[in-house]
Amino acid sequence: MSRIAYVNGQYVPYAQAGVHVEDRGFQFADGVYEVVAVKDGGFVDLEGHLVRLERSLDELRIDRPMSRAALSVVLAETVRRNRVRNGSVYLQITRGEARREFPFPTDTAPTFVAIARHLDWAKGAANAAKGVAAITHPDIRWGRCDIKTVGLLPAALAKQAAKEAGAYEAWLVDDEGFVTEGSSSNAWIVTKDNVLVTRKPTHEILSGITRSAVLELAKQEGLKVEFRPFSVAEAQAAKEAFVSSATSFVIPVVSLDGKLIGNGGPGVVVAKLRSLYEAHAATHSTDWQAPFLGP
Ligand code: PDD
Repeated sequence: MSRIAYVNGQYVPYAQAGVHVEDRGFQFADGVYEVVAVKDGGFVDLEGHLVRLERSLDELRIDRPMSRAALSVVLAETVRRNRVRNGSVYLQITRGEARREFPFPTDTAPTFVAIARHLDWAKGAANAAKGVAAITHPDIRWGRCDIKTVGLLPAALAKQAAKEAGAYEAWLVDDEGFVTEGSSSNAWIVTKDNVLVTRKPTHEILSGITRSAVLELAKQEGLKVEFRPFSVAEAQAAKEAFVSSATSFVIPVVSLDGKLIGNGGPGVVVAKLRSLYEAHAATHSTDWQAPFLGP
């Protein structure tokens, strides 16, 4: 079966799915995106992702191509046409196509594309059961990481470094030696006293939708959370560590730069959070509340 992409109002086979050479997403990374998990035919935390998408667009003054409800229909139709029951949907909106000039064009409609792909959630569960390795990498990104832009070259470089080191993720480290987040996930540690530590959602990190859900679940579980930076040394000495993202859910990090965290296997707090999040994902979270997405 040929895959189908949504491109500016039409559902087209991949072979015919393209955008213009002078699209600003292509030339300036002038665009934003979202990745939403599809679990057993339903979207996980869809509303949160759409709220964040609108925020990203507003921050960059890119027009919203359509209402939230219409966008949901496009995503559902993209998933349906590709017969994805378990996987993810990716959507990207750019400022559109215009003659290459740095300032914003005045009369250009945004480009909107969506694609869907299959994903084997059993692989994620296997990673969660074993735990994964992470490496550290300098955070060389720009000053507005709270906006989910397609300017992902620093993230791709970090992820490649992780891959070459046989690791699952790269934890990005700021100039002071503190972990900001993963290249495509939020970073967390659990202290000896079972306190969750994760950075405040400032301009330095993306406020993850999975992160917001995990925070809510942790609160319901009576877990204490501290919003502050943690150093690489603190992470390596932590009891447990983990990442959260739409496609990872919650995955324990059991080593950082080769140093084992805790006993080198998944810990009880992270295992609990993963199972709570899996249950949350299975309900497709209709009672979801908008998170704080950054200043
Ligand atoms: N990445 N931080 C960064 C830098 C990310 O790219 C992501 C998500 C997250 C987690 O956000 P959420 O929980 O909303 O997925 C944090 C997606 C999955 C990606 O680029 O593929």
